[in-house]
Amino acid sequence: MGFGSISSLALFGAILTSGHPMLSAQTIEPPCRFALQYTQEQVLNDTSTFINDLLYWEGKFHQNNVSYNNANGMSYDGTNIDWTTGERTVKHPFSAASKESLQVMLYTHAVAGSPEAARFLSPKNPSAAPEIATSIMKTKLETYLRFNETYPGFGGFLPWFVSDAQDLSPTWDWVNRVPGLDNGELLWAVYGFIQSLENTENKSYQQLASDWQIWMDYTKTTAAKIFYKGNGKVCAVTDIKNQSLPVNDAKQTYTCEGTGTLNDPYEGELFTFWLQLFAGLSEDDKSALSEVKKPQLMSVDYHMGKLGPITVQKGYWFSSHETWKVMEMPYYDIDIIRRVYQNAERVRTCNSVSTKVPGMFASVNNSTDPETGDVIGYISNAGIPSISNQTVQELDVITPYSVFPTILFNKSVGLAWWRNMAIAKKMQNMYGSTESTRVDGTLISALVTWDSKITTVIAILGGVTDFVRQKMKADNIYDEFINTAQDAYSSVFNNLKGENIDFCLPEETVNDSILTDFTLCN
Ligand SMILES: *[C@@H]1O[C@H](CO)[C@@H](O)[C@H](O)[C@H]1NC(C)=O
Ligand SMILES: *[C@@H]1O[C@H](CO)[C@@H](O)[C@H](O)[C@H]1NC(C)=O
Ligand SMILES: *[C@@H]1O[C@H](CO)[C@@H](O)[C@H](O)[C@H]1NC(C)=O
Ligand SMILES: *[C@@H]1O[C@H](CO)[C@@H](O)[C@H](O)[C@H]1NC(C)=O
Ligand SMILES: *[C@@H]1O[C@H](CO)[C@@H](O)[C@H](O)[C@H]1NC(C)=O
Ligand SMILES: *[C@@H]1O[C@H](CO)[C@@H](O)[C@H](O)[C@H]1NC(C)=O
Ligand SMILES: *[C@@H]1O[C@H](CO)[C@@H](O)[C@H](O)[C@H]1NC(C)=O
Ligand SMILES: *[C@@H]1O[C@H](CO)[C@@H](O)[C@H](O)[C@H]1NC(C)=O
Ligand SMILES: *[C@@H]1O[C@H](CO)[C@@H](O)[C@H](O)[C@H]1NC(C)=O
Ligand SMILES: *[C@@H]1O[C@H](CO)[C@@H](O)[C@H](O)[C@H]1NC(C)=O
Repeated sequence: MGFGSISSLALFGAILTSGHPMLSAQTIEPPCRFALQYTQEQVLNDTSTFINDLLYWEGKFHQNNVSYNNANGMSYDGTNIDWTTGERTVKHPFSAASKESLQVMLYTHAVAGSPEAARFLSPKNPSAAPEIATSIMKTKLETYLRFNETYPGFGGFLPWFVSDAQDLSPTWDWVNRVPGLDNGELLWAVYGFIQSLENTENKSYQQLASDWQIWMDYTKTTAAKIFYKGNGKVCAVTDIKNQSLPVNDAKQTYTCEGTGTLNDPYEGELFTFWLQLFAGLSEDDKSALSEVKKPQLMSVDYHMGKLGPITVQKGYWFSSHETWKVMEMPYYDIDIIRRVYQNAERVRTCNSVSTKVPGMFASVNNSTDPETGDVIGYISNAGIPSISNQTVQELDVITPYSVFPTILFNKSVGLAWWRNMAIAKKMQNMYGSTESTRVDGTLISALVTWDSKITTVIAILGGVTDFVRQKMKADNIYDEFINTAQDAYSSVFNNLKGENIDFCLPEETVNDSILTDFTLCN
């Protein structure tokens, strides 16, 4: 089956081998190594001060030529950092629609006037944040439109792209190929962004909303042709005959790559819901979309020693990454879904306590080889094996972003776990948190990326579901979404076990007598 970040991840092998901020705090720069200045009790007691510091430092990632290109408004995947100093070294000049989605969600809150988004984007001048966000989004749209002119075969969707020239091009291994999952993440983010612009009184912001709406509406007209193959079958990755030919050119064709189909009940759903709600499918095709996903949506009870049973949705790996969809679409409006996902965080937090792990698991980049400065590989299979479809896992690396689904339910508990990983040696740098650390403290991944950092920031901001819900209601698709998601989950889940169990707090720490901190952040 084609779950997961697989469309995102397919590239990695190739590339890698190759609360309101307090006013007073806004004027003072918190120390780079701020996590060490808080005890766990202090994070729990005064979460907003901790958040204030976290946003300040994660915001350092948001710099031209580090995480995005100011000239064309596009994201960069991230950058490697120096093993000793933590200074940036090799920039990743490429990116993908999934990283674009995080960037757009951030700007959605900036436009809405969130003080927290402003703390991240423009701490010295918070009132400038909406303008920073909209000016980058204006440039970005121009870039998307030029890409569509040059490569009309993508139908408005994005492949993994190279973004360090003015004009985008597909990365070498995404020529004539386009992934569904990442584009689903991008589209709902843009959807929420448009609503945020529309909610302002500013005429020029409303104009920007209409301009983005035109691009977004265009993808509704091409989505089925490119990705939908009938009988509920959606390509995970579509092979394009010739990316330079228009979608409707007689010589253009679209075929699913290999046997991979997008039928997962995790983050891939963002794309299948786009198809269902906007691509003009017949009622039969819409039901077929739900039917093919059904077998993957499973209930499983977690047990560990005396802990449990706790009923959760079976994971693919149970990586936090799989939960991405709930940051974007208003799943938590549905009682049974919210409760099932809250149970997941009981399990995620308590499993790490039971197994004596000082952090939590999610698909993430492996450690850096200090000799070469290269990241060793990508660990997709990191989660909780006993409640997953994929039971063979590598559980030796933990990552701060594993906490984002926890934060959506309980900021203080989620941030206590984030702190517990951030205090490990080298886990903070001049761009905020570091990608990952080995559980035993022997190595870290000297890398900073949107996925490992900004998912947490978006969760602190509450995701973009409030904006998405508002627009779904205006578009008259909210009820259909609710009914579809409710039917799917309520046919699998009714009697949830373990709902009385508290989230667990970290009890172990990473060994800190092996590595030394980055010299520029100690
Ligand atoms: C909890 O935080 C408040 C301020 O938010 C502070 O006055 C109080 O001393 C803190 N308590 C502890 C036990 O840290
Ligand atoms: C962009 O960053 C790279 C390192 O990632 C550096 O080599 C290059 O000089 C920077 N370019 C500009 C214009 O600052
Ligand atoms: C509206 O947006 C324009 C262009 O971004 C900006 O120059 C202007 O200051 C904004 N007006 C208000 C009232 O925010
Ligand atoms: C994308 O390009 C096609 C031409 O192939 C054009 O018809 C369409 O309007 C363009 N989409 C947008 C949003 O400009
Ligand atoms: C793809 O289409 C473009 C535009 O029509 C054409 O110039 C190019 O030769 C085609 N490429 C292939 C491999 O057929
Ligand atoms: C891992 O590395 C890849 C490729 O650089 C990047 O796209 C991804 O965001 C990184 N982190 C995670 C958590 O996936
Ligand atoms: C991660 O790195 C460790 C240490 O070098 C290695 O043993 C393991 O095989 C790597 N796993 C992957 C998936 O790269
Ligand atoms: C994993 O998912 C596949 C496809 O839905 C299914 O055939 C298989 O039985 C599942 N395995 C487990 C252990 O859940
Ligand atoms: C978060 O969890 C802590 C510890 O279980 C609990 O004391 C607190 O009430 C929870 N907060 C919320 C908002 O649920
Ligand atoms: C931490 O690492 C040091 C150095 O390798 C080792 O001597 C020590 O026993 C380790 N501590 C624990 C608690 O494992």
